[in-house]
Amino acid sequence: MSQTNSRRTFLKDALSVAAVATVATGASTSSVFAANHNSMAGIVYTKENPGKWAKKVGGHLPSIKIDGQKVTVETDHGMSAKHFIVRHTLVSKDGEVLGEKTFTPDDEAISSYTLPAGYKGKLYATSFCNKHDFWLAESKV
Ligand SMILES: [Fe+2]
Repeated sequence: MSQTNSRRTFLKDALSVAAVATVATGASTSSVFAANHNSMAGIVYTKENPGKWAKKVGGHLPSIKIDGQKVTVETDHGMSAKHFIVRHTLVSKDGEVLGEKTFTPDDEAISSYTLPAGYKGKLYATSFCNKHDFWLAESKV
């Protein structure tokens, strides 16, 4: 398998893990990834559980801004060919992927989505850094 294929496979697996974790529990990230649920440790990083990347939270935890039905996800991270944010997703409280964006090093790590009409409840954003792994944040509409 080529290196590119390996990375794609890993990304796909990491996204699946987050989606399954969200669907399976329906709970907040803080409770899903609390110390007593550390099966995601080393796979999914959150503000509450940054694990080995404790010093990297500010540049990797995605921010979620909500303005009516418009949601903007941003990761405050530099973008270079060697080190960049690869992808964002926005996931509903039911585990449905509401939107996704894959970046190149020439992009900014910002993505925008439109919520389904009448959406209420929690929202989850994921952000994947090619060096600092997979991060999950939550918000609420
Ligand atoms: Fe990074």
